[in-house]
Amino acid sequence: SGASVYQQCQGCHQPTGAGIPGVFPPLAGHVPEILAAKGGREYIIHVLLYGLTGEISVKGAKYNGAMPAYGQLKDEDIAAVLNHISTQWGNKFPAGQKEFTAAEVKAQRAKPLTAAQVNAARKALGLQ
Ligand code: HEM
Repeated sequence: SGASVYQQCQGCHQPTGAGIPGVFPPLAGHVPEILAAKGGREYIIHVLLYGLTGEISVKGAKYNGAMPAYGQLKDEDIAAVLNHISTQWGNKFPAGQKEFTAAEVKAQRAKPLTAAQVNAARKALGLQ
């Protein structure tokens, strides 16, 4: 299930999804704004498949760490953990968005990215 996969995430992002200020970004209250951005669904799949490195800003706070890639997980496990973080701690899918599917994850494996390229693509989302 998504909750069991999330056990691999919570050492950094914390069981509450609150992260650690300045070190590990929050997922609580933040995943919905990623999903609502144009290209946000593809972006968040890329973070899981390829990782993320370099400076980012989340709700006005800067982070400059390294999110490990989880491309070794099965497509269905990546979809499950994305559905988990999209619906925990008060998070909700934006209106009209459906759950992630394994097929949606698989499609994003076609053109591999580096963790730095994932960061570069994040800029187009306009997250502050
Ligand atoms: C970033 C989810 C595991 C450290 C992110 C982001 C997401 C995410 C969605 C992007 C936030 C954004 O773009 O605003 C997850 C999930 C995990 C996981 C679902 C488990 C499968 C981890 C672990 C660590 C970690 C284990 C620490 C070793 C980070 C860091 C960033 C980040 C440092 C920001 C990277 C940067 O500053 O460029 N994570 N994460 N994550 N995650 Fe994770």
